[in-house]
Amino acid sequence: GTPGTTEDRRPIGVIGGSGLYELLASPAPVDVTTPFGTPSEAPVLGELGGRQVAFLPRHGADHRFPPHRVPYRANLWALRALGVRQVVTVGAVGALVPDLARGAVVVPDQIIDLTSGREHTVFDGVGTVVHVPFADPYCPRGRAAALSALGGRALDVRDGGTLVVINGPRFSTRAESRRNVAAGGTVVGMTGMPEAALARELAMCCTNLALVTDADAGVDGGESVTHAAVLEEFARHLAVLRASLTDVVTALPHDGGCGCRHALDGFELPFALPGEG
Ligand code: ADE
Repeated sequence: GTPGTTEDRRPIGVIGGSGLYELLASPAPVDVTTPFGTPSEAPVLGELGGRQVAFLPRHGADHRFPPHRVPYRANLWALRALGVRQVVTVGAVGALVPDLARGAVVVPDQIIDLTSGREHTVFDGVGTVVHVPFADPYCPRGRAAALSALGGRALDVRDGGTLVVINGPRFSTRAESRRNVAAGGTVVGMTGMPEAALARELAMCCTNLALVTDADAGVDGGESVTHAAVLEEFARHLAVLRASLTDVVTALPHDGGCGCRHALDGFELPFALPGEG
């Protein structure tokens, strides 16, 4: 769209670790309640790289939600209610291929969802059946923008790849990890789903930045992963990740010229989507 339009003023949603808090200039928390309860934390509206951003720390500011307890539905709904139509999700992952070093950033284009027992749809018991397309789970235009922005940084960036999402909170056994490698996985994490699917269900673009913190247990040379090692590695790359995220947010397209916004076309929705108008 043209600068100055509603589209232009829409905040970019960013879901990530609490280490990204300091990212925003003039941050202001906004209380949002949703039909699915309250989000992990009040989203913080602020400015980043000349764009409005709504930041949501996935695990809560005090990291109280483990991956299987994150209120994913409330999080995505709350962001949309704030006008967000494009979401960037950031998460730590283990490498499933030997040539991905720690600190590399993968911009996945596929997902294998191995999670279970999570609240994974907003169309639950609402009297209508909605099946959104999900063959390409991430926004192609968001991915392209992210890749060109990340290319300007001294980063090992991978265009595409399959994110395997395990339920956790434990890490994989070696056998599970080898199976995920055999299935074609590039990286493995615990939070990518249902986040991406819920974004699609709410007709929002979703782009994932997967920061490699370790080699998973089934990869040649992979050790048994520990939480401490993941946190330490994530912290080591936080500064460059923050800077890169600024570039990515700046580079995201202003209009919705992709299929993501049309995921619900043709369905009789049982409720009005939030953030319309
Ligand atoms: N997050 C970071 N490293 C991971 C791994 N090896 N498996 C699952 N989630 C992770």
